Amino acid sequence: MVNERLSVTLAGVKMDNPVVPASGTFGFGLEMDRYDLNVLGGISLKGTTLEPRYGNPLPRIAETPSGLLNCVGLQNPGIDAFLATKVPALRKVYGGAIIANISGFSLEEYVKCCERASACGDIDIIEVNVSCPNVHGGGMAFGTSAKAAAEVTSAVKKVVKGKPVFIKLSPNVTDIVEIAKACEDAGADGLTLINTLLGMRISLATRKPLLSNRTGGLSGRGIFPVAVRMVWQVAHACSIPVMGCGGVASAQDVIEMMMAGATAVQVGSENLRNPLACKEIIESLPEEMDRLGIGSLTDIIGVA
Ligand SMILES: Cc1cc2nc3c(=O)[nH]c(=O)nc-3n(C[C@H](O)[C@H](O)[C@H](O)COP(=O)(O)O)c2cc1C
Repeated sequence: MVNERLSVTLAGVKMDNPVVPASGTFGFGLEMDRYDLNVLGGISLKGTTLEPRYGNPLPRIAETPSGLLNCVGLQNPGIDAFLATKVPALRKVYGGAIIANISGFSLEEYVKCCERASACGDIDIIEVNVSCPNVHGGGMAFGTSAKAAAEVTSAVKKVVKGKPVFIKLSPNVTDIVEIAKACEDAGADGLTLINTLLGMRISLATRKPLLSNRTGGLSGRGIFPVAVRMVWQVAHACSIPVMGCGGVASAQDVIEMMMAGATAVQVGSENLRNPLACKEIIESLPEEMDRLGIGSLTDIIGVA
């Protein structure tokens, strides 16, 4: 049964609760068969490109004291297989918001993928990833320049009809507000932040980088304060909704992210540590809200 105290409306999309597994940490949904997915407010699916990609060679995961480094490199079956098989299979069993996460190596690739995703009735939100740190000549290159991020935004907005476009931002910039505002001015309907922070580890035994790609993206609990700071800055500077992401691992973290200004909250690496994380967070939200005197989650968005 839906608990109205938890429900939010994200750029016109009504969600039973604000909790969304983050792209790349929840596959295409059906791999996660430990609970009924319908408890989730939305699901952001693994990043998709025009052509199928194997991703980077192994090793592509390294542990860190409070999270992990990855350089998966956008492994995916390509947009056509994604739309023909992955999305319909998920829609058969899941009624909540389906978020397609799109990546590219050129403006044209972003446009082609978004145009095809736009035509798919089962997709509710398109999330454009201009922030992947693990591919060369694409991803983050578009999200670390306000001009390039705005160009991608306005190009995809021209081809997406009838569904909101969120731009997923990189934290690997000096001024996140400048990039966020450029995307808003270019027509973005919302923003997701943050993607991973660029990091590196070195093997003491081999004296070489641990990851095949040498560098990787840092995620997990350690990045939570960085994410809260950036969500707070962007939510106060822009008037489009924000999906907060980065290090979220508990109902308290969801509430803090919403106080910073997030309308919905994505949970990423915590799914890898505990596959039941999102379900447990959603279940513990009402009790945490009672303890903190919060009537409805919408009351606390941006109060900080
Ligand atoms: C293994 C892995 C794969 C990821 N793949 C994607 C992806 O395909 N597209 C994307 O936008 N973000 C991707 N991300 C980034 C996450 O969606 C999220 O932005 C980031 O991990 C921060 O959140 P967290 O600290 O809760 O994990 C990936 C993260 C991890 C750990």
